[in-house]
Amino acid sequence: MSHVVYRVQLAALVMVFASGAAVAASAEKGQAAYLKYGCWGCHGTVGQGAVTGPKLGPDPMPAETFNAFVRTTNRAMPPYRAEILPEEDLADIYAYLQSVPKPADYKTIPLITQAP
Ligand code: HEC
Repeated sequence: MSHVVYRVQLAALVMVFASGAAVAASAEKGQAAYLKYGCWGCHGTVGQGAVTGPKLGPDPMPAETFNAFVRTTNRAMPPYRAEILPEEDLADIYAYLQSVPKPADYKTIPLITQAP
């Protein structure tokens, strides 16, 4: 189990370096930041989405698009500038959203059938 978590975090780290950010992102810190900055209030406790905001994870949009949106949005979501949400915390939030496990394939869920 811990190997899986480690590999997910490693993948997140590689992504951050690949996108040119100087900080190493942490999915664990990102979960705390996601709650601290109130993203959960509109996007659901694990980024699953709600009537108040779209789904953010698993499989978040590319990091560049994600960051640009959070910084500059002027629609229903208020923008979070770097003075309010530091670069490092945003990178951690992104790593967290990448680490959210995907739901099971519906085909693996046994069918509920009516009793004959
Ligand atoms: C007040 C409610 C609210 C809060 C708080 C909020 N969002 Fe949003 N967010 C929205 C809404 C609504 C949208 C839909 C796009 C729009 O019109 O702004 C959105 C869209 C987004 C998108 C684009 C999703 C897409 O598929 O286009 C991202 C990324 C995002 N939010 C990230 C965040 C992060 C990260 C935080 C916390 C730092 C956050 N949001 C906090 C309401 C919120």
